[in-house]
Amino acid sequence: MLRDGPMIDVLRITLPAEDDFEAWRDAARGLAEAGVPASAVVWQVEGGDADLFGGDVAPELNPGPGPGPSFAVPRGFVDLAKSAICHSEPERFALLYALLLKLKGNKRALEDRADPLVDRIEKLAKEVRRDVHKMHAFVRFREVAEEGGTRFVAWFEPDHHIVRHTAGFFVRRFTTMRWSILTPEVCIHWDGVSLTESPGATRADAPNGDPVEETWKTYYASIFNPARVKIKAMTKEMPKKYWKNMPETALVAGLIAGAQAREAVMIEASAAMPKAQASAGDNVQLSWDALRDEAAGCTRCELHRCATQTVFGEGPLDAKIIFVGEQPGDQEDLAGRPFIGPAGQLFDAALEKAGIDRSTTYVTNAVKHFKFVLRGKQRIHARPDIAEIDACRWWQEQERGLIRPAVTVALGATAARSLTGKTLTITKAREAPLVLADGGECWVTVHPSYLLRIPDEQRRREERALFVRDLMRIRERVVGLA
Ligand code: URA
Repeated sequence: MLRDGPMIDVLRITLPAEDDFEAWRDAARGLAEAGVPASAVVWQVEGGDADLFGGDVAPELNPGPGPGPSFAVPRGFVDLAKSAICHSEPERFALLYALLLKLKGNKRALEDRADPLVDRIEKLAKEVRRDVHKMHAFVRFREVAEEGGTRFVAWFEPDHHIVRHTAGFFVRRFTTMRWSILTPEVCIHWDGVSLTESPGATRADAPNGDPVEETWKTYYASIFNPARVKIKAMTKEMPKKYWKNMPETALVAGLIAGAQAREAVMIEASAAMPKAQASAGDNVQLSWDALRDEAAGCTRCELHRCATQTVFGEGPLDAKIIFVGEQPGDQEDLAGRPFIGPAGQLFDAALEKAGIDRSTTYVTNAVKHFKFVLRGKQRIHARPDIAEIDACRWWQEQERGLIRPAVTVALGATAARSLTGKTLTITKAREAPLVLADGGECWVTVHPSYLLRIPDEQRRREERALFVRDLMRIRERVVGLA
């Protein structure tokens, strides 16, 4: 019996699967509406260990899709919960339920970063996102002949319950191939039309060594730039546990060992090259070209349907600074280049005042397609939503991964969200640099469009001066790092 709250036994909620957000949401909604305190619920997963203290679900509280919620939760909570639910931490369902109850009482509870519960759940979600990132990056397919053609099969061991969560990514990326991803918990299979599942497998079920492996090795060796070897960052980004399943890692030791010699050769060769050619490693250039071409056909979200074209980043690939804006505007969409409209002009002027030569920097956007609403014939800027930002994040990460700038600058909240995965308050965030998940340094400042919109002249002047101050700090930092 409980000391506070309704006089009921502890309720045991059994979810059908470890990653079943919908089942958790339906159950949690029913419980929250019935006023059941978090301490009165025990969460478990079908087939999981039975809980010694669990009672039965009282029939009147039996969770299920009820008539709909009588209270709304912020979209940010749904996104957070969808990630955190995939964590391997058994307590996650209970933690999320406790947070849901908090939100029921206070819609803004999520904004309280000092709250240990919010902090804990943010951390879980972050770890899941990182695991997802690793899976996107480190799954390696081997080619297997099967009746009617070829199947590409990969073995992967995620830390969390993310396989279903990542399936959409692989479907989009390898739509025309037949593939299977085998993992200890669950396997997913794509036949070009539908996605199916089968129970978990073992490493022995996955093939080893084939022509795809050779292709990967060649590709990896060709993009490996010895001048950019950062062994610590590399092992952080590509933890050793993944190495055994990745053909290219067999090359790593040799590549690192040869890196110094190759770097010396490159330096010598680049000294003999015309400056424009020597400004970026040829391999980085080739990879960037391929990336930009791939982005030109991006359909990761719906924004490509109405925009004229993908507006990819531009600038030297050995830039020390990457600026990340929000999304292309009307003029950028037509011209296919970032920051050339009114916001771009203000940006250029501020850069000049701060002593930064834009042509030495790389400028890109968090979202690569223009989002707008039509008002008459005018296309009016519309803010990208979180799903669109998240869908587009991959490109920004690839750009940064190739360029490896000393400093990345988020211009405004959308860029900050794309880079950090968090919703930040610019006034606070602009005061000190942040460390990104890949170890990169990130500075946050306002978006130039914000400065265009300030109606009061005095305030506009002050805010512009602050923007220039931020840019100056960034310039000094880059000089210091060099
Ligand atoms: N605003 C942005 O964020 N990016 C652009 O490219 C143009 C305007």
